[in-house]
Amino acid sequence: MRALIHDPAAPQGLTLGEVPDPVPAPGQAPGVLENVGGPLLAQAFSQVAEGGRVVSIGQASQLPTTIDFEEQRHRGGNRSIEPFTVGDGFGPDLAYLAGLLASGGLDPQIGWRSSWGQASDAAAALLGRQILGKAVLTVD
Ligand SMILES: NC(=O)c1ccc[n+]([C@@H]2O[C@H](COP(=O)([O-])OP(=O)(O)OC[C@H]3O[C@@H](n4cnc5c(N)ncnc54)[C@H](OP(=O)(O)O)[C@@H]3O)[C@@H](O)[C@H]2O)c1
Repeated sequence: MRALIHDPAAPQGLTLGEVPDPVPAPGQAPGVLENVGGPLLAQAFSQVAEGGRVVSIGQASQLPTTIDFEEQRHRGGNRSIEPFTVGDGFGPDLAYLAGLLASGGLDPQIGWRSSWGQASDAAAALLGRQILGKAVLTVD
């Protein structure tokens, strides 16, 4: 996976590089929040401990899951997958997050800023995994 790595020689002391995927000992993860989908969701489910849960939040890879449920049944354990969606009642949560942003309590991790007129460029860069973080478009 790609991650921000501490590098004193880089601007702001950080650089983007490849690091090994964080793989817990097999079967030892108490839970996983998973937003990539595809084979990674299957890997996450195969590494959850007995009684653990995977919360499937998204499918950024745009790939369907490859979970082999027969294999997982043989593994046993009281493990579950929850398909999660925020729904439409999250106004108070957004207000809380906006307050954190305003007070500097939350770093929004913005990797792209441009005009709304460049929305297609931003979408292509996001889908091409060229942006580390969020893209922000200004309506001008
Ligand atoms: N359930 C809900 O309520 C809810 C709410 C918000 C979002 N979502 C969904 O969650 C998903 C992610 O949204 P987001 O806003 O977090 O997107 P994001 O900021 O673009 O992050 C996507 C992440 O997925 C990784 N990724 C993308 N393609 C990958 C691949 N083929 N293999 C491995 N890693 C890959 C990216 O890694 P790199 O940085 O290395 O490219 C990045 O870390 C989307 O499917 C979105 O629809 C669901």
